[in-house]
Order: sequence, then C-alpha cells, then structure tokens
Amino acid sequence: MSLLDPDSRTTRAAAVARSFAKRHGVPPQVVGVAPGRVNLIGEHTDYNAGLCLPVALPHATFAAVRPTGDQTLRISSAQQVEPWVGSLDDLGPGAGGGSGSWAAYVAGVVWALGQAGLGAPGLDIHVDSTVPLGAGLSSSAALECAVAVAVTSVLGVELDTVTRQRLVVACVRAETEVARAPTGGMDQTVAMLAQPGTALLIDFREDCTQAVPLHLGESGHALLVTDTRVSHALTDGSYGNRRAECRAAAQALGVPTLRQATLADVEALADPVLRARARHVVTEIDRVQQAVAALEAGDWTRVGTLMDASHRSMRDDFEISCTELDLAVAAAVRAGARGARMTGGGFGGSSVALVPRDRLAAVTASIDAAFTDAGYAVASHLLAVPSGGAGLEHPAPG
Ligand code: GLA
Repeated sequence: MSLLDPDSRTTRAAAVARSFAKRHGVPPQVVGVAPGRVNLIGEHTDYNAGLCLPVALPHATFAAVRPTGDQTLRISSAQQVEPWVGSLDDLGPGAGGGSGSWAAYVAGVVWALGQAGLGAPGLDIHVDSTVPLGAGLSSSAALECAVAVAVTSVLGVELDTVTRQRLVVACVRAETEVARAPTGGMDQTVAMLAQPGTALLIDFREDCTQAVPLHLGESGHALLVTDTRVSHALTDGSYGNRRAECRAAAQALGVPTLRQATLADVEALADPVLRARARHVVTEIDRVQQAVAALEAGDWTRVGTLMDASHRSMRDDFEISCTELDLAVAAAVRAGARGARMTGGGFGGSSVALVPRDRLAAVTASIDAAFTDAGYAVASHLLAVPSGGAGLEHPAPG
C-alpha cells in the first residue's frame, strides 16, 4: 500500500524559504501555509445556502513572501516553469493570466485584499504545494489562503477570527472574479477556519461554522482519499452549469435558494432535470445534518450509509460522477469501507472512503486491482488526517 504522506508544515516551510532565498538572494519575511481539503459530505450545497462538512488535509500550500520595495508583484511556483511578473497598478479581474491561470489565484488575492482595505506593497511571492493538483482537493483555495495569511502578516494585521473571516471573503472574490472559477465558498472557509482533529460544519444560510470532533484514531477509523487522476477544472463550465440549474430550480419553486425548499416541493417540479438536481441538494443538506448526529453518537455504520447515499445522489440525480469515481467507491465498499463517495466539484477528482484501520490495505488493494482490470491510470491514495487551517511559519534563515 503506498500512501502519499506529506512533510510536516515546518519542514516544508523551511524548504520553501530556502528556495525563496536562492531565487531572490534574501530570505522571505514570512511563509503562509494553508491546507487542501476533502469534503466528508454535503456536496454542491454551499452555493445553495446549505450545509457541508469538510475536513482540512495535512497536505498544504506554502507561500513565502517579502516586500519588493516598489510596485512590482513577482510570483513564482515550484510547480511551474515561468514566473508571472506584473505591477500592483494593473491588478483586477483578469490579472495574473486570468481564467484558469495559476498566477491569477495569487494576483487575485493581492487584488481582493486591497479591495477589502488590506492593500499590500509590491511583493515577491514564491509558492510550493503538497496538495495534489486537479484532484478535487482544493489546491486553489489552499494557494489563495496561504497567500492571504502571508500578506496579512506582512501588513502587521493580527490573524484573529474576524480577520480570517475577511480573508475567506477576499479569497472567494479572487477565485470567482479574477480566476473566474464560480466557487461556492466551502474550500476557502475550511482552509481558513479548520481545527485539528475535527470536521468543519459550515452553514451558508446562517453564515456560521462549528467544529465537529471526528475521533477517527480512537474509534479505529481512517479517511482514505483516492485521486482517480481524472482531472477536473472548475472553470470548464460543468460546475457553472449545475449552479445555473440550481438557481433555475429555486426560481421555479419561488424560493430564494434551495435551502428553503422541501422534498415535497421538489418532487412537484415539472422539469425532470431540475427536479433531480434539486432533489440532490435538498436530500444532501439533510444527510449532512444526519451525519453530524451520527458522528456525535459514534455511529460509524450510519455515517458510512449516509456517504453511500450521498454518492448515489451525486451519480444519479446531480450527475457529476464518472466511471472511475463509481469504480473507486464500489471497490472501497466491497473491500470493507463503511461507506464511500466522490468528493468535491465532481466530473473527476477524488473519492473519500471511511475505512476501519485494519481494512486500509485491503481497500487500497481492491481499488488498485479494479483500476488495473478496467485499464485505468493508476490511482493514488492519501490519508485525510484532520488538520488545522491556515497559519504562519517563520523559518530561521540558513
Ligand atoms: C468545489 C467548489 C466548492 C463546492 C464543491 C462542491 O470544490 O469550489 O465551493 O461547491 O465544489 O461541493
């Protein structure tokens, strides 16, 4: 069994600081760190004013930052060949290469922070990441949040809860207005507010969060994430299309968002596609509530059953799964996972399985064998050890 296990934050931050120093001849002032995420349950509910229950990963993105002394913004990445160079005066929608470009997420954050009254000086920013890219594990939110906390530190602003909430808003603006990915806010919220050992219950109608203890270790469970290697992009239109269908369903029902709709309302919708999309959202919000109750009661069988139901709902009603994801989920359950589902935006990306620890090797072997038999690319696995949200590292020079 091979599992992708990241370096500790401190070790990796020190390495990123060394790369920065090599590139710029001086050490960074600070390194911001923010995690990727896996969503336990509650998919495509955030932009419907619903509930979701993501977990921050130990895999994270690092942003080493230092003021340049002028208006220049220089952005480089260990994962990219070419740096992006621009001026603070030219930031705004489309900056950093615009839609889908990696640098747009970084330039977008600097712009959005300025819009929020946190205007930064010119900066050298060097980023590196252990979050798998294009795997539906929110590498983009991790990038935005790492940059946001680092810039905030450069400005001398304390990283308290109120600031973190402001940063969530700025990062969402960077993603939707500059990188032009119509994200719903779950990823930035968990990257900024997660606490170790817990999942984060996010209520998008009430605009509040609650840490839900997971007790995975004590109960002998692990969360296994499998990257199917079917790459997904939030900018390709499919995600935006589902958002539009949800809006249309809410409009047909005469409610502001699908959070206000009941299952009975939804079943009366005339259009079969809108009916199925809305059914997923309404039942998924209910499943999140039930999952929180099951976790509080230590009822792992129930949590697994809810994950299975969530996957079926995404496969059949929301239609955002794919054959690789369906196979990973089926193979995991067959080998003893308590439940499994696709996670994230869909149309590729990763699955998450709740696995008794003594079945971990069997479950990964079952998925690998199923993928080999089907002739699919080799999937990669990681353990979602519930981690904390964004923070700062101050690596010693040298
Ligand atoms: C992506 C988006 C999130 C959320 C999920 C689906 O990860 O960035 O806002 O909508 O898809 O739950």
